[in-house]
Formats: sequence, C-alpha cells, structure tokens
Amino acid sequence: MAPQLTELLSRSSHLPAHYIRPISDRPNLLDAHTSDVSIPLIDLGGLSGPDRPKIVQAIGLACQTDGFFQVKSHGIPQHVIEDMLHVAKEFFQLPESEKLRNYSDDPLKTTRLSTSFNVKREKVSNWRDYLRLHCYPLEEFIDEWPTNPPSFRRIVSEYSTNARDLAIRLLEAISESLGLEKDYIEKELGKQAQHMAVNYYPRCPQPELTYGLPGHTDPNALTVLLQDQVSGLQALRNGKWVSVNPIPDTFVVNIGDQIQVLSNGRYKSVLHRAVVNNNVERISIPSFYCPSSDAMIGPAEKLMDDQHPAIYRRFTYEEYYKKFWDHGLQTESCLELFRAY
Ligand code: OGA
Ligand code: NI
Repeated sequence: MAPQLTELLSRSSHLPAHYIRPISDRPNLLDAHTSDVSIPLIDLGGLSGPDRPKIVQAIGLACQTDGFFQVKSHGIPQHVIEDMLHVAKEFFQLPESEKLRNYSDDPLKTTRLSTSFNVKREKVSNWRDYLRLHCYPLEEFIDEWPTNPPSFRRIVSEYSTNARDLAIRLLEAISESLGLEKDYIEKELGKQAQHMAVNYYPRCPQPELTYGLPGHTDPNALTVLLQDQVSGLQALRNGKWVSVNPIPDTFVVNIGDQIQVLSNGRYKSVLHRAVVNNNVERISIPSFYCPSSDAMIGPAEKLMDDQHPAIYRRFTYEEYYKKFWDHGLQTESCLELFRAY
C-alpha cells in the first residue's frame, strides 16, 4: 500500500505501467473545449437582497442544464482561501515519512491520506495523492486531523466552516429553485455531514496516457471546489469534455448524486474528471456536503406525480456511500444501481 504512494511521487521520466489507460480511454488533451463554451458564472452578491429570485433562477437553470456552475462574491474572505491553499501545499511538501503517518487504504476511515482512488479495488491507478477529512461536526473529527503543518487544524477548520456556510446558502437557493421550502434539502440530509479532499496532482511525465481522476459523478449532495490557478478539471457538457479553467476568487459548484435523487432527476449530477500535466503540480480542494449516514434519501413528494413517477428508490446514505466506493469510478454512475424501475 504505502509503496504505491512512493511510486506516484517518483521523478521517473516514464509513466509506470499501472497508470497507463487503454487507448480507448485516454484524455485526448488537445480536444477539450476551452474558449467557446464555459459553465455559468453566477454572482452571489445579491442573494440576500431584492435580486434573490433572479439569482435563484440562474442557479436552478445551471443545475438543470450543466450540473455545474462557478460562483463569485461568495462571501468567503480571501485570506481564508489563500491560507487553505497554502497549507494544502505545505502538507504535500512534507517529507514522505511524515505524510505517511496519515496513510490508509480503507475508504471508510474518516481521516486518511491515500493515492489514486481506491487502491484496494482498482486495476489502473490515477495520478493523484489525496488527503481526506471529515469536517462536520468539527469537534468529532478535528482531533484526528494532521498536526503538521502546525497551523493545519486552525486553517482547515476555519476554511471548512466557511465552506459549509456557503454550501448551505447554495442548498437553500437550490431548494427554492425547485419550488420547495428553503430548508427542504438541508432537512432531508438529516444531521448532515461534510467531507473534504485535498487533491494533489504532481507533474506527470506522460499526462496523455492517464488521469488525475477519471470521469465520475460525486456521490454526495453538493460539491464546492476550490482550485489553484492550474487547469485540470473538465466537465461533460453535451457529450464533450469542457475545461473548467480557474477564475481567481471563484468556487466551482456541482450537483452530486443525492440532489439528482432528491430532485427526481431534474437536476443533474454530471460526469467530470481531472487531467494532469507535465509542467506544474496542481491542488484542488473539494468540500463535499452530504447527508448523515442514517439519512433516508428519496425523490421529493412535491416533485412526483403521474407523469413524473419516482425515478429512484429510497435508501440510506450509508448504503449509497459504501456502494460508491465498491463500484469504483466508472462511466456508469452509481445512481444506476438505485433506480426504481
Ligand atoms: C473530486 C473531483 C476534481 C478536481 O475530487 O471528486 O472531482 O479538479 N476533483 O480535482
Ligand atoms: Ni468529483
């Protein structure tokens, strides 16, 4: 297990064989659309004023057509964002032996450093190391978090609290955009949970042969992603991979599988992936806003009628989450396993 991580960080000039994808499953780096199409950029500045209905409508439209959008004037102070990116970088620059104290290949462990996606199950590896943390309720998990760099816990708790606040404001707007009570989704998520990944994509000697993360949908409800100024994220839009290039001081937001279920398929949990490059390392920090394990998830009553029967059956998030890690990152989303018919 640990050796995998060592291999990932090696400076070899060729990609080790177990990262190489079959020819039919490579990123085609020249093909991603960059300039002519892009996902919507929504200004949240007026969300608690008279412009709220307009902004809610724009969010609803983005959830329906793209499943992805970016937000600016999001209310998270700049120093909180900068500190988070900085400490993330510092963490991955620590000596290998120090980082490996956090290593585990058990996906259900609440704090862990790992590599690729699920090294116990996958045949081809991904060019990524990642640190995963549970962040809510904070006091339940913070004592498990790394203590090195020394500022890690202070900075990450401040960041994750801010990210949660933004996620809740977005969930309220998303609920309203579906014609549901403002707190409908929050309530359906039960006691709620929040996970964070700190993804580290080192420079890759042959980025055209592999992925940082292959195409997948996020299993949670809503993802709020902070990325540094290096491109790599791509979302599938009308059958084409579109680069979601970084814009300073914005977050990328995407619908996860649970909102696709709650909205009875109106809002889309869209396939996305991360490609890597040969020039510069990249850091991305998704905050995954999720139901608590015991929350029962199913389509909202109000969004079902004779013409719109339930597309998905009801399940607990615990059941869903376990299936997600077992299923692996495949083109067919884990949602397909939960269809009602
Ligand atoms: C993820 C993810 C994209 C990125 O961690 O689920 O989609 O840009 N990351 O790192
Ligand atoms: Ni994702």
